[in-house]
Amino acid sequence: QPQAIIFDLDGVLTDTSEYHYQAWKHLADDEGIPFTHEENDAHLRGVGRRDSLMYLIRGRQYSEEQIQEMMNRKNQYYNELIKKMSPGEVVPGGQALLEEIRKAGIKTAIASASKNADIVLDRLKITSLFDGIADGYSVVNGKPAADIFVYAAGLVHVPTHNCLGVEDADAGIEAIKNAGMRALAIGPSERFKRPDKVIPTLANVRLQTLLEV
Ligand code: BG6
Ligand code: MG
Repeated sequence: QPQAIIFDLDGVLTDTSEYHYQAWKHLADDEGIPFTHEENDAHLRGVGRRDSLMYLIRGRQYSEEQIQEMMNRKNQYYNELIKKMSPGEVVPGGQALLEEIRKAGIKTAIASASKNADIVLDRLKITSLFDGIADGYSVVNGKPAADIFVYAAGLVHVPTHNCLGVEDADAGIEAIKNAGMRALAIGPSERFKRPDKVIPTLANVRLQTLLEV
């Protein structure tokens, strides 16, 4: 049994992927760049802020100053959207699952690439259900690098090989496997290259399912 379960936040514990999409779409519309929901799913899910923008503006010329301004503008749009989030936006059964994990004596942690993870966790009122929180300020190398999962394991003092990672993006599953952890993927199985187990959603999942990974 794992000694720690490390969760990605966006797209796993809550559907902020939709808000990230809406914020990028707003920016794309401002700039007259075509951008669809399908592209978001295929190319931006779990991808960091700068890399997401690089995908959006590919082939177009922008200065570093303009790039910075666009990243800030997208983040402002995103912040407007997450400001209104509430505990009802935690995946159904999410709080119960986290409580069940903790009662079983297993540590819980967050490994999110987002610099807004603290705000989202606060809006969802689940901050206190985690023993450690690693976010977009914690490490330099983003997923698929192992760093953020290794950092999160360190926060809860559990060796990486005793951790289970949970992710909805393939770059995240790669990060988990690169960290030497078991990997539970959330989403359609075609999305992932080397998960240990795939389930369509974390909704109403109990600890037993996580222990079977
Ligand atoms: C990830 C999201 O968790 O964080 C991505 O899945 C997002 O969509 C990335 O781009 C960075 O987030 P932020 O909030 O720092 O721009
Ligand atoms: Mg995610």
